[in-house]
Amino acid sequence: MKVASSLPHRVSWIGIAFFVTLLCSFIWVTSIILATFTPPKFDKDVIRKIAERAVDLPREEAFRNVSKELQAAFPQLIYDSKWIFINAGGWMGSFYLLHASLTEYVLLFGTAIETSGHSGRYWIDIYDTLLRGTFYQWSEGTTHYVTYSAGDTIYHPRLSATAVHWKEDTWMLEYARGPIISSLLFALSDSMFSTQDWLTIYKSVQIYGRMVIQSLIRFQI
Ligand SMILES: *[C@@H]1O[C@H](CO)[C@@H](O)[C@H](O)[C@H]1NC(C)=O
Repeated sequence: MKVASSLPHRVSWIGIAFFVTLLCSFIWVTSIILATFTPPKFDKDVIRKIAERAVDLPREEAFRNVSKELQAAFPQLIYDSKWIFINAGGWMGSFYLLHASLTEYVLLFGTAIETSGHSGRYWIDIYDTLLRGTFYQWSEGTTHYVTYSAGDTIYHPRLSATAVHWKEDTWMLEYARGPIISSLLFALSDSMFSTQDWLTIYKSVQIYGRMVIQSLIRFQI
C-alpha cells in the first residue's frame, strides 16, 4: 500500500527534475550557439575608445558621458538603468546595466570602497576599461599581481580565473560577449548564499530580463 502511494509522487519529482534539466540545457546550448554564430551588435574597440576619452572627467560626468556616447555610437541598443549592488566571489560592487541581450552586455561597474575576491570563471569573454581608480589582478598560475589604472583595458578570457582587488573609487566600462545567462548564477552567488539580499537578486534578474525582452522585441539576440 505504502509503496503504491509513494510511487507516483516519486515519478512526478523525477519528471520535474528532468524537465528543468532539459530546459536549462536547451537555454544553455541555444545561447552558446547564438553567441558563436551571430555577429556581435557592439564593437569592443569603439567601447574601449569611448571609455578612454572619459577618463579625465569627474566620476558622475564620466558615467553620463559614456552612456551618451554609447547611445550615439550604438543607437537603439542602450537602455535606461539604475545602480544595483552585486555580491559575488567575496567582493561587493555596483553595476549599471546599459545593454543586455542573450549574447552581449555593456555595463558600468565599480566600487566606492576597497574590495577584493575571486573574479569568477565564466563561459563569456569580458573586456574592462578603467575610467578611474586602481585595479590589482593576480592571474592563475602566476605568483605576482599586475596593477591597472585609468585608461587601461583588461581582457578576461572565458574560463580564466583571477584574484581581483579594486581600490576605493574604482569604476570601469565593461563589455562581455558569450552566453550571458551562464554568468548569472555567479553574479548572484553571494547574494543567494551569503548576504541573502533577495531584493538585489530580484532587481538584477528583473533588469536583465527586461533588457533581454527589449532586445528580442527589436529582433536582437
Ligand atoms: C565626452 O567627453 C569627451 C572628452 O571630454 C568629449 O570630447 C565629448 O564631447 C563628450 N561627449 C558628450 C556626449 O558629452
